[in-house]
Amino acid sequence: MNSKDLDLPKKEFKELLDISTEMILQKFEHFEERKAFHSFPQTEIENWFDEKPPSEGMSQVELLEEVKHKILDTATDNIGVHMYGYVMAGGTQISIIAEKLAATINQNIGKWHLAPSIVEIEKRVVQWSSEIIDFGKDIGGVLVSGGSEANLAGLTVARNIFFEKKNIQQKGLFGLKPFTVYASTEVHGCIDKSVTQLGIGTNNLRKIAVNSDFTIDIEILEQTIKEDIEKGFEPFCVIGTAGTVNTGAIDDLNSISALAQKYGLWFHVDGAYGGLACVLPSVKKYYMGLKKADSVAIDFHKWLYQTFEVGCVLVKNWDTLRNAYFKKADYLDSNLEDQNRLNFNEHTFQLSRNAKALKVWMSIKGYGMNKLKKMIQKDIDLAGYLSDQVNEAPDFELQARSALAVSCFRYVGNLSDESEIESFNKKLVAALEKDGRVFLTGTKLNGIFVLRACVINHRKQKKDIDYLLRIIRDVAKTLH
Ligand SMILES: Cc1ncc(COP(=O)(O)O)c(C=O)c1O
Repeated sequence: MNSKDLDLPKKEFKELLDISTEMILQKFEHFEERKAFHSFPQTEIENWFDEKPPSEGMSQVELLEEVKHKILDTATDNIGVHMYGYVMAGGTQISIIAEKLAATINQNIGKWHLAPSIVEIEKRVVQWSSEIIDFGKDIGGVLVSGGSEANLAGLTVARNIFFEKKNIQQKGLFGLKPFTVYASTEVHGCIDKSVTQLGIGTNNLRKIAVNSDFTIDIEILEQTIKEDIEKGFEPFCVIGTAGTVNTGAIDDLNSISALAQKYGLWFHVDGAYGGLACVLPSVKKYYMGLKKADSVAIDFHKWLYQTFEVGCVLVKNWDTLRNAYFKKADYLDSNLEDQNRLNFNEHTFQLSRNAKALKVWMSIKGYGMNKLKKMIQKDIDLAGYLSDQVNEAPDFELQARSALAVSCFRYVGNLSDESEIESFNKKLVAALEKDGRVFLTGTKLNGIFVLRACVINHRKQKKDIDYLLRIIRDVAKTLH
């Protein structure tokens, strides 16, 4: 190693890059044979890393070997074809390359002159996203860590702009009458976290009952808003979900937007899971009204198959973001002459930011929207295939079919007692994790525990769905 700094001579650096490239390539082999989860005891993995910070560095070739052995070879196969838990989209090869290149130039996307091309790329990705979901032209937006942060950002902007006249950015919320937020009982937990962080409080988040298809009940929503007004609350924001995490249900965004207009509320859409699917002609009809939202959260590490992390919040223009976030700081006031330069630090919370936009931009350019759309449609079709298989099988019971790519079901075997089925399925999820061949999680629908399979991964094929059902039956047999 060069003693003056941390850099290696070119030959040694290249050797490490070549080894790491080989490690990456190996992860793109044998997808089908790989386990989705490696069931090591927690303490064993903890022990692998139980050491003090070393005073001297080790051989970097050996370090890569350690990384391969302890991390890559044992990784939960989020990129693989047997992952059905949560919303794990698998990543793209272009994202991997983009992340490597972005780290190389180490741009800081906080200010234009620290990253001119990437700032322009991020602006482009924001406009493209808006075009993809048909949200409008010349909109403003920022790339963030994911769906949770995109929702927090949307609600932050909502609160700061809605209460701008009350100077809440200076005075805080002290002395204001409680203001209320509305969303369905199926809303994602990041909304609860967001209202907590924003000082609104979860007591003022009204969870509205859902219809049998898990979309928000519009009548109850309006009734609740009216009651709150009568009781002296200040209704301020209504949230529609475009693809709930449990079942992929898409709220009636048109009706929600009509209510938002009628009562003068901010309209936010959580499209983290399903927002980008609205690019498909087959499901576009479910997204009517999305255009009328004031803010939208979308998530590229879901349905644009990006590597973690990257999400996006969109609002109708850049000034809205600037009014919600701008804070003057003398040390940031440089090169004020060029007014066309967009400085992201003035439009979002973070100052230093990484180049999330590069992987999204490269993926859209490298694959093209037609191919990406084909993959999203394939995921939805595969989830439909899974629901059909489950529905036709005597030993399974379909609980929820989705317009998007989730299927919820129970394994019933020859059980008929409700409580037995419930406890069997809970045990099954744990047993499936221990087995590791497929990764599946559970959730509750109408209070009933169900298995939930999310089929977001461009690498998945029909035979993988057949394999999933085979493994569930196999593991279930061991439990009987
Ligand atoms: C509807 C919805 N909103 C928000 C989120 C949170 O997104 P993230 O995990 O990227 O923070 C999710 C994640 O699954 C989601 O499905």
